[in-house]
Amino acid sequence: MELDKIGEYVKEVQDGGTLAVITEDRVAPLYLDRCLRSLRAAGFRTAEMVLPAGEATKNGGQYLDLLEFCAEVPLTRTDGIVALGGGMVGDLAGFTAATFLRGIRVIQVPTTLLAAVDSSVGGKTAIDLPAGKNLAGAFHQPALVVQDPSLLDSLPEDIFRDGMAEVIKYGIIADLDLFSELGDPAWVRAHIGTVIDRCVSIKKSFVEADEFDRGLRHMLNFGHTIGHAVEQLSRFTISHGSAVAIGMARMAEISAAQSWCSEEDRDRIRALLRVWGFDLAVPYPKEAVFRALCADKKRENGGLSLVTLDRIGACRIRPLPLEEVEALL
Ligand code: GLY
Repeated sequence: MELDKIGEYVKEVQDGGTLAVITEDRVAPLYLDRCLRSLRAAGFRTAEMVLPAGEATKNGGQYLDLLEFCAEVPLTRTDGIVALGGGMVGDLAGFTAATFLRGIRVIQVPTTLLAAVDSSVGGKTAIDLPAGKNLAGAFHQPALVVQDPSLLDSLPEDIFRDGMAEVIKYGIIADLDLFSELGDPAWVRAHIGTVIDRCVSIKKSFVEADEFDRGLRHMLNFGHTIGHAVEQLSRFTISHGSAVAIGMARMAEISAAQSWCSEEDRDRIRALLRVWGFDLAVPYPKEAVFRALCADKKRENGGLSLVTLDRIGACRIRPLPLEEVEALL
């Protein structure tokens, strides 16, 4: 798909009317004009809102401002929002679309690898609260996801690498062949469109089986339970991808120590993460990680579901009492 044809794609899901493009100030100079031009050429009225880049923007105050903006445009129930950006924009604009007028159309246009393979698909939208990340949100499926891999060409290396943690996760949970191909960064860069398609089709299969995240979809959280704890403890100075890489390496170690997976698979996972430059040491004491784990919103009655490794390409959800989780750490 091509950003310059977004107007044509949107026509397939919306018959005229207005589109409010929500983006952020690092993405706007690169892609906003192209997006607006194509939408207008296809006959849509447009409005735009440019937010400050960064996770700190994904807050309640900004969310209310966006609702006011939608009311001022004004958007009606037959209009839509275009989320042009990475995970922060997709989550915030998606949550705005989920709740404005009790739900209007959202079109996701991911501009980071992480958004392309994860946050733009599957319908999770959210804002952060002072008590934690993504604590208020809704399931709201996009009417359309415009995947233009050329938008990733401008990504700084560390932002691209952040998305690679999620790509590696898909290989670990469901696709040994994909995992095996990821050891060659030049190949990955050259075939990024194919890699994204494979990740999205894996995500699609989990989301179709469990849209509202009551069971099987937890599998997509491999490495995320420890990852979220590390992210939280670092006050978000450690990026999501880097934290998930630490979490995946640790879960591979735990799984091998319990003989749930082979030591060879553990070593292959750690080696691949290192090829992509991830630092795998857990930078906090295990007591602090455990306390942060206990605050995870996915906690269930007295326990926590950990996604553990059977082998590369197959994982398992283990509901465990908290004492057992503490002992595993
Ligand atoms: N990012 C995990 C999920 O969408 O369920």
